[in-house]
Amino acid sequence: MYEPLLKTSSLTKVFNSLTAVDNISFDIYPGEILGLLGPNGAGKTTTIHMLLGLTTPTSGSIRVFGLDLKTRRREILSCVNFSSTYVSMPASLTVNENLKVFARLYGITDAKKVISDLLETFEIADIKDKLARHLSTGQLTRLNLAKSFINNPRILFLDEPTASLDPDIADKTRRLLKRIKDRNNISVFYTSHNMNEMESMSDRLIFLNKGKIIAEGKPDAVIKRLKGDSLEEVFLKVARGEK
Ligand SMILES: Nc1ncnc2c1ncn2[C@@H]1O[C@H](COP(=O)(O)OP(=O)(O)OP(=O)(O)O)[C@@H](O)[C@H]1O
Ligand SMILES: [Mg+2]
Repeated sequence: MYEPLLKTSSLTKVFNSLTAVDNISFDIYPGEILGLLGPNGAGKTTTIHMLLGLTTPTSGSIRVFGLDLKTRRREILSCVNFSSTYVSMPASLTVNENLKVFARLYGITDAKKVISDLLETFEIADIKDKLARHLSTGQLTRLNLAKSFINNPRILFLDEPTASLDPDIADKTRRLLKRIKDRNNISVFYTSHNMNEMESMSDRLIFLNKGKIIAEGKPDAVIKRLKGDSLEEVFLKVARGEK
């Protein structure tokens, strides 16, 4: 087995009296798509925010590329990236200017070429001179996804990347993610409430409920472990407290 790229041990986050993430440990391996699923409020976004250093864990440890996130944050963050439908981009900049800003932040040398490839890949070349504030939700999501590839990350964190996309673009995005993942051998850690997508995209799944991991493994194994026929079915059981 490969060494994990990312390793969490006993990760916990308490907000006031609420334990949003409760003592979870898991690894992310090179080249895998690891899906994080669970009902609203299960702790998915909080987990991703801790892995990105945006939220400080109450306890537990996070090691990325063998380095401690607490002390080596800068090095680690230069080699990962993230995208979330719910994080806004600078609204008064155009699509192209937004990508330029992020390219500069990450110190990308061949920015022009990288940006032009990303504009093509995410089918936003035709709106490159539009202000971010004038984009539709789906266009904004694609800009956000394009931005997340700007530094050719080794690990990509995606929080509900397809939530606002129409079925055609969502399908294209899923294919694209798989293609780029295979081409660049990157690892993808992502969340979605689309159970078909989770089942078909993920090499492994982590099922979170009320901050705790209740099942993990290949999609088939998770479904079996939670005694159902599909991910949708077991999700409903868990969300309705029947598990
Ligand atoms: N900054 C915060 N302060 C207080 N409570 C918070 C904070 N951030 C998250 N929470 C709480 O932590 C819990 C987990 O939230 P989180 O956003 O991680 O859930 P999620 O699994 O991403 O849900 P969703 O599917 O709705 O996106 C929720 O009860 C939420 O209200
Ligand atoms: Mg969330």
